[in-house]
Amino acid sequence: MATPLLAQPSAGSDLKPVPVSERNGVLEILAMRRDPFHFASERRAQYGDVFAMNALGIRMVSASGAEAAQQILINKDQAFANAPAWSYFIGPFFNRGVMLLDFDEHKHHRRIMQEAFTPKILRGYFEEMQPVIADRVAKWRSSDPARSQAPGAAGKVKMMDQLKQLTLDVAAEIFLGVDLTPAEADRLNKAFIETVRAGVALVRKPVPGGRWWKGLRSRKVLEDFFYEHIAAKRATVTPDLFSVLCHAEDEHGNRFSDDDVVNHMIFVLMAAHDTSTITLTQMTYRMAEYPDWQEKARAQSLELPDMLDYDQLAELTTVEHIMDESLRMCPPVPAQPRMAIKDTQVLGHFIPEGTMVVIPQMSNHRDNKYFTNPDVFDPDRFAAPRQEQRGHRMAWMPFGGGVHKCIGLYFGQMEIKTIMHHMLRDFEWSVPAGYHMPMDYSALPVPKDRLPVTLVRR
Ligand code: HEM
Repeated sequence: MATPLLAQPSAGSDLKPVPVSERNGVLEILAMRRDPFHFASERRAQYGDVFAMNALGIRMVSASGAEAAQQILINKDQAFANAPAWSYFIGPFFNRGVMLLDFDEHKHHRRIMQEAFTPKILRGYFEEMQPVIADRVAKWRSSDPARSQAPGAAGKVKMMDQLKQLTLDVAAEIFLGVDLTPAEADRLNKAFIETVRAGVALVRKPVPGGRWWKGLRSRKVLEDFFYEHIAAKRATVTPDLFSVLCHAEDEHGNRFSDDDVVNHMIFVLMAAHDTSTITLTQMTYRMAEYPDWQEKARAQSLELPDMLDYDQLAELTTVEHIMDESLRMCPPVPAQPRMAIKDTQVLGHFIPEGTMVVIPQMSNHRDNKYFTNPDVFDPDRFAAPRQEQRGHRMAWMPFGGGVHKCIGLYFGQMEIKTIMHHMLRDFEWSVPAGYHMPMDYSALPVPKDRLPVTLVRR
């Protein structure tokens, strides 16, 4: 039987139609979640770089490879939009976040937001962030009770939870800059976590008690919090992101309205949090799996002072290559969706208006056209002279590309390196020989077991 096709281009066009997978859409999604790498290579072998499937109630085109990513993200004829694509997944909870705006409006907001991420402002965040990180990491409990400063701390430590709490603490200090009572901090944390979770709810309706319903309720808690504090934030300048967004101005003197500040704060909290936690968890895992890399990274950290200067972050080259390789093997944002808002094409395939097109960057990162032995953890591939990521500007793209490229990439890398520096100096960690972290790819990629490690204070 012939493969079904998405839509025929108009007569006389030299574009090819997109083949559609004839498999059941639900089964396709399940297969993709089970093993996204195997799924991608099998479908690519069967259909080529561009194919469609019916999934999650919509028709979705997957466009593999660096060339397709470049074409979609550079978006020369403005055929692809973010808002209708991302809104489908996270719209009600992250409404009017900068990633959910398009074209001129996006440009306008991004220019103002850029002021919150200049090198000077980043140094200010770093000064605030490092003492919080050093203090929290130093208080972590060791798995070994004999060497622990906290009593009764034997057993494994679930690193994903530990790192998640740490990045939440950093976010509360560096993003909010509001003195919270423990009860308020708890309420906000809970609201934040429920808002993030709602985006991946299977039942996408506000059924009381369900994820979607909790997400909407929690979004309201976050909104109320930010509206309550905004007047005070506008009245004085403090070094936190909330204050910076209240005062940021583009070169024409444009500023954010109160509604803009609230929407952007809620979105940025989400964009910063899970992404950094996932990267840190992957790095922790890889350094437990490959203790030589842990030792090599530690040696560099031990040569530097406990409390780093901002410029010394650049000297943590081993941590940097481990981070880059972890982001390659498991990018926290595994795919980027776009909606075709007019008839267009990808790699010579006709894409009709209203089609969701997805860039599968997680499997793109395993392309052996650019990366030698792509399934092998090999941080040296990022070091000179190899620098395999340079084979194509979209070969390695954990932070996306084009006009929506991650605005927080320097912030994120700064936070991750600072946390790793303190972890490496304070602790050693390990996993049993032969341990492989079991992954859940149903939303953002996280370990099913939260990564239990033996964590020993040095
Ligand atoms: C390892 C950490 C991070 C990773 C892997 C990451 C990844 C990404 C990716 C892939 C995108 C583009 C999505 C798309 O185009 O569809 C993005 C956008 C964005 N990220 Fe990040 N991110 C990280 C950390 C952060 C941090 C720390 C912040 C803020 C402090 C942040 C704020 C944003 C914002 C605001 C956008 C939207 C930009 C726009 O649409 O103009 N991210 N991020």
